[in-house]
Amino acid sequence: MQINPLSDVLGAEIIGTDVGNLDDAAFDEVHDAFLKHHVLVFRAQDLPPEKQINFAQRFGELDIHIQKDNKYSGHEAIQILSNKKVNGKFVGSPSAGEAWHSDLSYTDIPTLCTMLYAVEIPEVGGDTEWSNMYLAYEGLSEKMKRKIDGLHARHTFNRFRNPRVEVPDVYKGKGKERYVDIAPPDAIHPVVRTHPETGRKALYISERFTIGIEELEEEEGQALLDELIAHQKQRDFIYRHKWDLRDLTIWDNRCLIHLACGGVPEGQIRHMHRTIVRGDKPY
Ligand code: SIN
Repeated sequence: MQINPLSDVLGAEIIGTDVGNLDDAAFDEVHDAFLKHHVLVFRAQDLPPEKQINFAQRFGELDIHIQKDNKYSGHEAIQILSNKKVNGKFVGSPSAGEAWHSDLSYTDIPTLCTMLYAVEIPEVGGDTEWSNMYLAYEGLSEKMKRKIDGLHARHTFNRFRNPRVEVPDVYKGKGKERYVDIAPPDAIHPVVRTHPETGRKALYISERFTIGIEELEEEEGQALLDELIAHQKQRDFIYRHKWDLRDLTIWDNRCLIHLACGGVPEGQIRHMHRTIVRGDKPY
């Protein structure tokens, strides 16, 4: 197995490996690389949905996203992210991930890892960025670390309660009720979480889902969030991935935030299959 780092801050590509054909020793090697590099890119995978599901299950229990509309027919655990339309209707979610976030942090038991498989890619745009939240935490001043250690943040799925993000047209008007109805109760998580496998500390807030700091008054909490959000999006912590067809990426949501960069021109298609694996309660 050839493992090539993709940047100084995170990410490695794995060449010459079929994810459907890993014995236990090879999987252990993959798992070690996952903890070390946080994002793995497996090149040139031939990956029908069953195979993606089987590989995801080696990392833990599959989770099912709360948005029911974008499921792959016959495979509830595969979510389609796509700007493709059939009979005038999107076949998947066209706007998922367009603000920085860690998957499902708005639930009590957020995602351990996400897998995203490139079925169709555009010539231009559609990149994904990840930012390293270990480095973001370690890059804070000692004074800031003392201030935020022990604080808790409120996370919500509901964009209408988060002035830091836009509400896409599809969720306005009639769509609003359906969208608000599926939002689970807010989740409260530590602002700094400890990674359950590495023991390292990581900043655990995001622009998309975090709306307040529990222990602080509204104004002070929002000012602190503004500062931490600006800090966590610094280019020094970020790797940007330009997709190749049939890339499979897997990333660790316990120490990263990520962003779908968009910018796909009209008439070009980006079509991806996503699976998520359930993690444990952040502490
Ligand atoms: C996501 O937020 O899980 C999707 C990221 C992407 O489509 O690039």
